[in-house]
Amino acid sequence: MDFTLSDEQRQLQQLARDFARKEIIPIASEYDQREELPWQVVEKAFEVGLLNAAIPEHAGGLGLGMFDECLIGEELAYGCMGIYTILMASELGITPILVGGTEEQQQRFLGPMTEKASLAAFALSEPNNGSDAAAMHTTAVLDGDEWVINGTKMWISNGGMAEVTVVFATTDRQGGHKASVALVVPRDALGFSYNKIKHKMGQRASLTSELVFENVRVPRGNQLGGLGDGFKIAMKTLDKTRIPVAAGSVGIARRALDESVKYAKAREAFGKPISTFQAIQFKIAEMAMGIETGRLMYQKAAWLVDQGQTHGFESAIAKAYCSEMAFDAANEAIQVHGGYGYVGEYPVEKLLRDVKLNQIYEGTNEILRVVISRQLLK
Ligand code: CAA
Repeated sequence: MDFTLSDEQRQLQQLARDFARKEIIPIASEYDQREELPWQVVEKAFEVGLLNAAIPEHAGGLGLGMFDECLIGEELAYGCMGIYTILMASELGITPILVGGTEEQQQRFLGPMTEKASLAAFALSEPNNGSDAAAMHTTAVLDGDEWVINGTKMWISNGGMAEVTVVFATTDRQGGHKASVALVVPRDALGFSYNKIKHKMGQRASLTSELVFENVRVPRGNQLGGLGDGFKIAMKTLDKTRIPVAAGSVGIARRALDESVKYAKAREAFGKPISTFQAIQFKIAEMAMGIETGRLMYQKAAWLVDQGQTHGFESAIAKAYCSEMAFDAANEAIQVHGGYGYVGEYPVEKLLRDVKLNQIYEGTNEILRVVISRQLLK
């Protein structure tokens, strides 16, 4: 066992750390307030190689593994989880094409994304079914050599701004997962529109949308895998992409810790810095314990992915644990800051608003407990 990062990994980590400090932290609060996606950050991330880094070399990309992606994720989320979600959700949109697509499809859909700043999206959830993903209502009907898609998807990160959206649909609403199909829909497809979801609690710099499909036609060649494979492609995707959520959560917790240490050393009460009180010291120690534990979890899960080993159990544990640990860290960071933590002048209230979503998206932590316990009880 070796916990040492390679020189390349340390450089990558430093690149992402610098990027968070220079490009993300200075604008995070402003874009959160404006509820606007900072496109210039996406462009800069593309320029330095931090966008869509999982696109394989045969499609013109960097082909980064999951471990490396997560090293980047922890650093970017330290800067702003909302902005990190833009990039992370793009990797989520790419992953089904890597899981279920042929080499030709990977080149066709992902190749152009290596030439200019562009995003992908993953459209599984619907207005009336999120956790019960197999119960999808969006239909796909074959008409000659084209699929015709009708329905509505909900809570889609990057929805409407993505060059490619992987849409999961059913050919028979009574058919369960065996009737599911995964289809790649380009941004400019006729009949494809979106509505931005406003007034989110946190992660407001990331775009979340409702997607509407009205007789949207895509060629049969945009189908990933076989008929009936859609659900399994989605599940295999999420088994991987829950790990970057865990890594991002560790980034948030680290930020909560750093902000707490800084404040506790500067703020005085009863004639001395509050960092000298055990009540504060214990909170800081708890945060550090959670961060160290969480990092080990996401790194192990990511390592399993890169080794080609099964990883669904570990990724579910990492995502559930890290998002809950980070929620507690952000909550305690507010407590350390007292009244100042409750207002937007300090970054800690945004950390709490942002991290809440990590417990909900890419599988609620309750669904992840289902995934974990099923593995143990089967
Ligand atoms: N890998 C491969 N195959 C899998 C699998 C996995 N992880 N999980 C299930 N399957 C297979 C099963 O083996 C089974 O196959 P057979 O019928 O051939 O045996 C089939 O899929 C059906 O499996 P289940 O009966 O277990 O399915 P289920 O209906 O009970 O659902 C679930 C299981 C775990 C609850 C699943 O529905 C689930 O994960 N739900 C949560 C969905 C989710 O995470 N959504 C997040 C959306 S993305 C997002 O958040 C948006 C964003 O933009 C960030």
